[in-house]
Amino acid sequence: MMQNNFYITTPIYYPSGEPHMGHAYSSILADVFARFERNNNKKVFFLTGTDEHGLKIQSAAEKKGLPPLIYCDKISLIFKDLTKKLNLSNDDFIRTTEQRHHKSVSDLWNKLVKSGDIYLSKYKGWYSVSDEAYYNNDEISEKNGKKYSTFSGSEVEWVEEDSFFFKLSAWQQKLLDFYDNNKKFILPISRRNEVVNFVKSGLKDLSVSRTSFTWGIKVPENDKHVIYVWLDALTNYLSALNFPNTKDNLYKNFWPASLHVIGKDILRFHAIYWPAFLLAAKIKPPSRIFGHGWILSGDEKMSKSKGNILDPVEIIDKYGIDELRYYLMKEVSHGSDGSISLKSLTNCINSDLANNYGNLCQRIFSFVKNNCNSKVTKNNEVSESDIKLINETEKITKNLRDFMNDQNLNHYIKSVINISFLTNKYINDEEPWKLKKSNVIKMNNILHLSFEQIVKISILLNPIIPIATSKVLDALQVSPKLRNLSFLDGKKILPDKIIINDLKILFKKLDV
Ligand code: ME8
Ligand code: MG
Repeated sequence: MMQNNFYITTPIYYPSGEPHMGHAYSSILADVFARFERNNNKKVFFLTGTDEHGLKIQSAAEKKGLPPLIYCDKISLIFKDLTKKLNLSNDDFIRTTEQRHHKSVSDLWNKLVKSGDIYLSKYKGWYSVSDEAYYNNDEISEKNGKKYSTFSGSEVEWVEEDSFFFKLSAWQQKLLDFYDNNKKFILPISRRNEVVNFVKSGLKDLSVSRTSFTWGIKVPENDKHVIYVWLDALTNYLSALNFPNTKDNLYKNFWPASLHVIGKDILRFHAIYWPAFLLAAKIKPPSRIFGHGWILSGDEKMSKSKGNILDPVEIIDKYGIDELRYYLMKEVSHGSDGSISLKSLTNCINSDLANNYGNLCQRIFSFVKNNCNSKVTKNNEVSESDIKLINETEKITKNLRDFMNDQNLNHYIKSVINISFLTNKYINDEEPWKLKKSNVIKMNNILHLSFEQIVKISILLNPIIPIATSKVLDALQVSPKLRNLSFLDGKKILPDKIIINDLKILFKKLDV
């Protein structure tokens, strides 16, 4: 992995049902980081996809009366279509039923056998098909004669079958050392503590193959067993880089991954099993696991099994994709859970997009069009209030890269919206419209500085609302080469003389 490269992934989703807002959320979040790092002049590889093996998918296909692969082809396509509707900038879309992935999983398996980390035995215990996860006795509770995982609330069943095991117990101390040496391997910090405590409490060996069904990748040399779907699924992050061909440029440039964006429901798999598998196979673990909270519907987790899902496509059709992206990124605090509703969506669009950023752009563009023949020329005079605005803006922007390095998108957005707020205030105070007759030079300077602010804000908001911000940058004729964060390092974007194109309404104000 080279310094200037950035490899980011979403979870690969189960096509056991159609995508919902939770999936959209993780994907948009990852897309925002991907776009930010591209604007930050990094070479980015952004991966998403679908997780198509295991009992959960086999059963879903059976319910529809379809062979599993035909079923997966169908639903995976819906997930792929959603990447376009969400305006994701992913470079690849992986399916675990692809040949490239089979090759990669078999190779990783063989490496684990070779290192002595896999042995044959028998699994006896609880299993949740919905989570595709094994649970210990002390993680089970009973209700109405049925058994559930206390951890996830999913129903579990008793399983007894021949199984290969991964010697996870042998990796307990090495994992703790690894977390210790990589303090930000798991973010947010609360999630890290959760994981460290779980590992400290003791790790049992992990069943990594199953013999009671067939829909999966066969264990090399023993085709009675299919590889446990999580060992299969996690490996997708390597398959997309053409692992095991470690000489491949994708692998050389992008492994280890910079950031796996996941929901907190799948933290154990990513923060414990995944680095253990990789360390055992002598492959470098990823740099960061970011486990975001849940989107709630009322106060329940929004999920397929609960049937309380909000359809992202409906929202996009009604409100627009930039609007949905902004809302999800702003309102759902990334560490903790967040409830979403149409009411707060409407308020958010009105207050931040229509009244703040949208209004800032619209008022300056239409004033310059109507009063300045669409031209603004800067002179070298700088007023005290100009300096104040420039300094305040700099004070805010200097933290932005750090916020993004820690996936602290909430602070990032608040900061950028604050710049927009300050700029609107500057314009209210300076009243350039009053200078049309009396001081055209000063009026031009105020308008020019306003445009400079608009450009900065647009570049900073671009990862979140790419369509609207591109319209603004287009209207200001900013060359694609300059649409990046170099201005944070002092690079000038706008020429002294600006000629603008018309800007159409960016965000309609909605009735509350
Ligand atoms: O777990 N709020 O797939 P999955 C926020 N195939 N995010 C949510 C959410 C909600 N209510 N519901 C789902 C799997 N998500 C495995 C992953 S990775 C190698 C394999 C998001 O279809 C969140 O990112 O159940 C969560 O972790 C993921 O969808 C689970 O998707
Ligand atoms: Mg799930």
